[in-house]
Amino acid sequence: MYSVLTGLGYAVPDRVLTNVQLEQMVDTDNEWIVQRTGIRERRIADASTATSDLALAAARSALADAGVSAAEVDLIIVATVTPDYAFPATACLIQRELGAWNAAAFDLEAACTGFIYGLGIADQFIRAGTYRTILVIGAETLSRITDYTDRNTCVLFGDGAGAAVLRAGEEPGLLGLEIGADGRGGELLVLPAGGSRNPASRETVAARRHYIHMAGREVFKFAVKIMEESALRVLARAGLQPGEVDLIIPHQANARIIDSACKRLGIGRDRVYVNLDRYGNMSAASIPVALSEASARGKLKPGDYVLLVGFGGGLTWGAAVIKWNKEAKHD
Ligand code: ACO
Repeated sequence: MYSVLTGLGYAVPDRVLTNVQLEQMVDTDNEWIVQRTGIRERRIADASTATSDLALAAARSALADAGVSAAEVDLIIVATVTPDYAFPATACLIQRELGAWNAAAFDLEAACTGFIYGLGIADQFIRAGTYRTILVIGAETLSRITDYTDRNTCVLFGDGAGAAVLRAGEEPGLLGLEIGADGRGGELLVLPAGGSRNPASRETVAARRHYIHMAGREVFKFAVKIMEESALRVLARAGLQPGEVDLIIPHQANARIIDSACKRLGIGRDRVYVNLDRYGNMSAASIPVALSEASARGKLKPGDYVLLVGFGGGLTWGAAVIKWNKEAKHD
């Protein structure tokens, strides 16, 4: 029994925030951002759009792509660090809006690695025979936790959502997956206030502690190393060499991280899908949006080997190898 990706979908807000617009907000410049990150613009949700709105649009599109009805969904997993509320779970809001009354629903938090964690959990339920149809969503409105007075972080992040439908099938499928964590690096990427450690107060708001705080250089080093290591492990488990990968979909944090990791793996730029120039880093949404976009643009054909690899707050990481068996679809 394999988990097979039968449907994909994504949604991004219409509003574009360009590097040139950011020049008006903080002491930065377009050239610095492009050279150091590869990002040119990102999407920002309007005030009335929450994470669940983007997630719902992505979920509807993935279900339609899979030809699956809401009633057939057994489980909904939403990976996010920007849920609508601490509770109820964003996944329960999606269940309600879809009318997916047969589905269990929960959120998971593994920062930018959340979607791969979600795939790993879904795969376990499918291979155990517990569930047949699972919706895995990565969705974020990072603009809500981004400090637009901090040039070190505000140029990096954007909003969006991507979704995948996994179904039980006889043909591969998900060939291998690993998830991992190193909590010793937890302080490198943190939203310091708003939880039980530092509940929201006038002081936490005044100190701007409800925004992402990041030690960029350390995260960068961790990312390059772990992407190579976990990709190699997961490929070995699937009996594949890096040279056999048809398309790699890396987490979209920084073009230099992607370039360094792919160079170490010996995977040329022509086999790497990059969309961070248009969207920036959307945390848990980055990988499913890129996968969905790559599929919609006809970059994947049946029989292709696709490698997903990501890292993020926690620190966490994950990688997955998929044998693609969906016919290419076009926008
Ligand atoms: N515009 C202009 N200058 C800037 C900007 C900016 N937007 N941001 C930083 N600088 C300056 C710094 O202040 C620093 O100046 P200084 O030397 O006078 O102090 C200089 O540029 C160089 O800073 P570095 O931090 O060395 O720049 P670096 O090349 O490392 O790039 C970056 C910084 C882009 C943040 C990089 O480290 C990075 O991408 N790190 C990884 C981040 C990441 O992947 N996060 C993912 C997780 S997100 C999640 O899980 C929610």
